[in-house]
Amino acid sequence: MASKKIGEVILDVQNISLSFGGVKALTDISFNVREHEIRAIIGPNGAGKSSMLNCINGVYQPQQGSITFRGQTFKHMNSRQVAEMGVARTFQNLALFKGMSVLDNIMTGRNLQMKTNVFQQAWRFGAAEREETAQREKVERIIDFLEIQAYRKTPVGRLPYGLQKRVDLGRALAMEPQVLLLDEPMAGMNVEEKQDMCRFILDVNDEFGTTIVLIEHDMGVVMDISDRVVVLDYGKKIGDGAPDEVRANEDVIRAYLGTSH
Ligand SMILES: Nc1ncnc2c1ncn2[C@@H]1O[C@H](COP(=O)(O)OP(=O)(O)OP(=O)(O)O)[C@@H](O)[C@H]1O
Ligand SMILES: [Mg+2]
Repeated sequence: MASKKIGEVILDVQNISLSFGGVKALTDISFNVREHEIRAIIGPNGAGKSSMLNCINGVYQPQQGSITFRGQTFKHMNSRQVAEMGVARTFQNLALFKGMSVLDNIMTGRNLQMKTNVFQQAWRFGAAEREETAQREKVERIIDFLEIQAYRKTPVGRLPYGLQKRVDLGRALAMEPQVLLLDEPMAGMNVEEKQDMCRFILDVNDEFGTTIVLIEHDMGVVMDISDRVVVLDYGKKIGDGAPDEVRANEDVIRAYLGTSH
């Protein structure tokens, strides 16, 4: 990790507050993410972690604050715009098409990159056909990278959970993101599946230089692979810094002692 070159701030979250009726999901949250780093967001259940990712990728619109991405500041993000800016996301609860093959699921991540329109695609003439071939080659490369060649034609619903999570990562990677938001990519996995997922996250970060924002409950994993950690509790930020700093933070220890994590 020490050899990794961490760059400028790519994503800057400023004073974000979000509430649902009376529930304050996020209160005045600020933190930044630097290019090429693995930035973890941790905190007990209901702390606001997923809500934070949902603000970044335009699914939720915060009542206050702003988000700056590569120097451009937004009050509200819009999902399509966010994707076009190179931010991709995996979900805490898988959002895959269970009846579709691994290949087709990952292909859905390429939609934004497809330049020809639906009419051309339907006829598969000329440019559209060439483009489809090029897109498939990119998807095949992701399938090789994630070592899921053997399952490329298998309907996703038939795969074990750990592999489904890997396909979800593949769908996000197909967007060729600069920033990848991962919401509990290792939840529900056994030790071996977690090790595999850790390795893929590190490889994505290393080989493609992708900046990663990672929500994860497994403290061993977080302390191992992240460069910096933000800690949320009841929608407030209670810690921010290198893994060692955060681990020694009294407020963080207290928040974690009060929960099952
Ligand atoms: N769409 C919504 N409508 C109403 N309340 C919501 C909504 N989304 C989140 N909340 C509330 O906001 C708070 C933060 O939820 P969030 O899902 O962001 O937490 P989390 O840290 O991701 O928790 P977990 O570790 O369980 O995934 C919770 O009190 C939750 O009930
Ligand atoms: Mg969550």
